[in-house]
Amino acid sequence: MKLQGNTALVTGGRGGIGRAIVARFLKEGATVFAADLSEQGSLAAHDNDGSVFVRMNVASEDEVKAAMAQVLETSGQLDILVNAAGIEIEKTIEDTTLDEWNQSFAVNCTGTFLTSKYALPLLRAATKSGTTASVINFGSYDGFIADPGLAAYCATKGAVHALTRAMACDHGPEGIRVNAICPGYIDTPMLQSFFTGEGSGGDGKSIDDLQQAVRGVHPMRTYGTPDDIANLVNWLASDEARYASGQLWVLDGGLSAQVQQMKL
Ligand SMILES: NC(=O)c1ccc[n+]([C@@H]2O[C@H](COP(=O)([O-])OP(=O)(O)OC[C@H]3O[C@@H](n4cnc5c(N)ncnc54)[C@H](O)[C@@H]3O)[C@@H](O)[C@H]2O)c1
Repeated sequence: MKLQGNTALVTGGRGGIGRAIVARFLKEGATVFAADLSEQGSLAAHDNDGSVFVRMNVASEDEVKAAMAQVLETSGQLDILVNAAGIEIEKTIEDTTLDEWNQSFAVNCTGTFLTSKYALPLLRAATKSGTTASVINFGSYDGFIADPGLAAYCATKGAVHALTRAMACDHGPEGIRVNAICPGYIDTPMLQSFFTGEGSGGDGKSIDDLQQAVRGVHPMRTYGTPDDIANLVNWLASDEARYASGQLWVLDGGLSAQVQQMKL
């Protein structure tokens, strides 16, 4: 059990990817706080998995502060922070309202900023025993290359990538490692709403046809699962990754490695 004796906080911890991370951390022996807007998060059902639920809007400074106080009071420590809460608005900039733009940044960027800011004193204290503490942000391959119709989302993820590097530089000397995971297509409620939403470019195709087409453009001919992401998160959280910091870890089945083949 790689994370025995560690305490972790996972934002978006009741979402598709967040839940898989929470489950993996629990399996590895950590005490886990799952923070989300509601107990159910993005999925319909929730089994009591042994994590501690924290109701928290990552964009609210007061709620983030209160959540950190709860972690400290309940567990007395924090070694791992995963910033997985996120939203996706499927529009071009022309169709995106200012409110939608601001909301995208409030959750995806400001949420990562606020949660990290108020976790830092706890993470710093955790390094006193000579081990490293770990922050894992969620970027996206959309922070490097763009899906059509996801303008605000792409911009927020590019900002999270830059913030990740800046945090790694500032807090590495304190023993705090900061990395971002940049998933491609991962099968979660966010991906399913992408398939049914305005930004998918489906042009009247059925969802099944669209999913098949998306699988087909991946070199690995499939998209990923939340457990694929949890495997990498688990490694980055553990002391096996003690020398890994400041990096953007793309996990996308090879999607961003290729040029789309032209049919001449
Ligand atoms: N699924 C993918 O294909 C994919 C690809 C690239 C990046 N990502 C990123 O991975 C992360 C997790 O995505 P997912 O696919 O699990 O999405 P999801 O929609 O299943 O889960 C996101 C969770 O975040 C929570 N959340 C939203 N706003 C919040 C807020 N203000 N405060 C607290 N919690 C909030 C939601 O309630 C939900 O439970 C996101 O940052 C997303 O951008 C996902």
